[in-house]
Amino acid sequence: MDNRPIGIFDSGIGGLTIAKELHRVLPNESMLYFGDTAHLPYGDKSPETIIGYSIAITDFLLKNNCKAILIACNSASSTAYDDVLKRVPEGMPVFNVIDPLISYISKRFHAEKVGVIGTRATIGSHVYLNRTREADPSIILVEKSTALLAAMIEEGFHDNDISQAVIQAYLEDSRFEGIKALVPACTHYPLIADEISTYFKHQVEIVDAPNIIAEQVKTALAEKNILGNSSEANLHFMVSDLTASFQKSAAIFFGEKVSLEEKRLVQ
Ligand code: DGL
Repeated sequence: MDNRPIGIFDSGIGGLTIAKELHRVLPNESMLYFGDTAHLPYGDKSPETIIGYSIAITDFLLKNNCKAILIACNSASSTAYDDVLKRVPEGMPVFNVIDPLISYISKRFHAEKVGVIGTRATIGSHVYLNRTREADPSIILVEKSTALLAAMIEEGFHDNDISQAVIQAYLEDSRFEGIKALVPACTHYPLIADEISTYFKHQVEIVDAPNIIAEQVKTALAEKNILGNSSEANLHFMVSDLTASFQKSAAIFFGEKVSLEEKRLVQ
């Protein structure tokens, strides 16, 4: 048993969708969440910049006694995972949000067509395409950058006419015809999963990324024998730039009221 917190980070508050599911699956785990709101969006930044931010946050989480790191951001997972891994003490688990999804797709969609949507950084890295090809070359993977969606969701546009129109504009793409599943490869997208499913008339599986990721973290911590057993898990949420708008949206992403604390890492 190990009751030190799991360190989780994202470019902002989108990663709270993963933190929320992790807390549901592992209610006895303490978590230290860091949202780099001073630097978001990561999705439009260069790999070098995202790596620099990710390393600074990793150092902060390590200083705060975290037992494992979860990169709850596709943009950072696709560009900075190897650098974060090199930064932590040997043997410390580092999780990204991509490996569990590749493993899920490759087990379930042999010889099928699968769509992936995400930020420019994630799609531009072609990490889903390359990794899926390695895992099962029979899967036809169609990638599309849907850069507007994260900002749209953060602005509170979901479950309304505007979000439906934007979703349609991105998804009515002939390349998506015949897909069996769609991977929402951005931690903001679980908030519009139902709308995407409705767009596809519920005929396409919208991959439940938060649950798949949380279950993988649970299995890995159990294998290493470092699960927590706190009767009162400590949930600590920090952001690098605190505004009333982030405070308000955080409750929507986490599904309950959260109190954000400001901590500036880079000047
Ligand atoms: N949370 C980020 C991701 O999963 C999206 C937001 C951003 O571009 O920073 O890619």
